[in-house]
Amino acid sequence: MSKLQPTRALVTTHFTALSDLPLATLNALLARARFFSQSPLQDLSQTLSHKVITQLFFEPSTRTKSSFEMAAKRLGAQVINFDVDNSSVKKGETLYDTLRTMEALGSDALVIRHSDDRVFETLVQQIRTPMVNAGAGKHEHPSQGLLDLFTLEQEFGKLRGLQVAILGDVRHSRVAGSMMLVAARLGLQISLVGPEEFMPAALPANCERVDLTEALKTCDAVMCLRNQFERHVDLALSPESFHRDWGLTAERAKLLRPTAIIMHPAPINRDVEIASALVEAPNSRIFQQMRNGVAVRMAILEYVTRGGQP
Ligand code: CP
Repeated sequence: MSKLQPTRALVTTHFTALSDLPLATLNALLARARFFSQSPLQDLSQTLSHKVITQLFFEPSTRTKSSFEMAAKRLGAQVINFDVDNSSVKKGETLYDTLRTMEALGSDALVIRHSDDRVFETLVQQIRTPMVNAGAGKHEHPSQGLLDLFTLEQEFGKLRGLQVAILGDVRHSRVAGSMMLVAARLGLQISLVGPEEFMPAALPANCERVDLTEALKTCDAVMCLRNQFERHVDLALSPESFHRDWGLTAERAKLLRPTAIIMHPAPINRDVEIASALVEAPNSRIFQQMRNGVAVRMAILEYVTRGGQP
């Protein structure tokens, strides 16, 4: 007689995409991030005490990895930074076996960055420990998307009706992916600006291609994207010509309305997608985005480790 296998992943709360996150959950996460951004640190260290967060980054990261670690530690959790390059991955161990191992060791959440756009589609059927998408290929980067939304709401006190111009390498950007996939449900209007080879094959709802000058004149926020050189194949567009034809130069930034803000997920190619002098201009919120990333990731870690209660 065959024994029934336990159903895996049935009751686990993962955070793998903004596109399938209920609106109420998204708003609750934003509210919780607001609470964390305003709370004294000493009040929070019991929140995730005795929890262990394991980070597995199969692609490089500065902000996402460090801010998830900062977020975990502020909530009192322990953090394991799995060292891919010195692990049994190098002996051919599969991603599934690696994650099952970290699960067996007792991780309470797995924060994963991977080059495969669709990596979580299979894993959510296989892994019972909550997983957090810290960037998947060119598809979604939902914690970045959430911190971008948090920054917009912090600035304008609302999301509905805002006009966001996304400038540059949209096709290869998982940051743009998350923002575009959630725009319609939040009432955001997205203008996409850039050369043909950087534009996506299909435009989600509430997203349209717009002329550069028009987009800058009418937006509430311009979000410059990093040119993802490592994902380009046979692309004849030099950094200099991109900056000249499409970059946010000081001259073009004068087209922005007085209330408009400049965003960029970073890392930044200075003087390619954005003039270096604009990175810390008074209307830039680039470092504020990074600061907000900690509060947003605190909300995400609390959400997944408490079974979906933001
Ligand atoms: N914005 C972002 O994902 O930065 P990192 O690649 O440094 O994590």
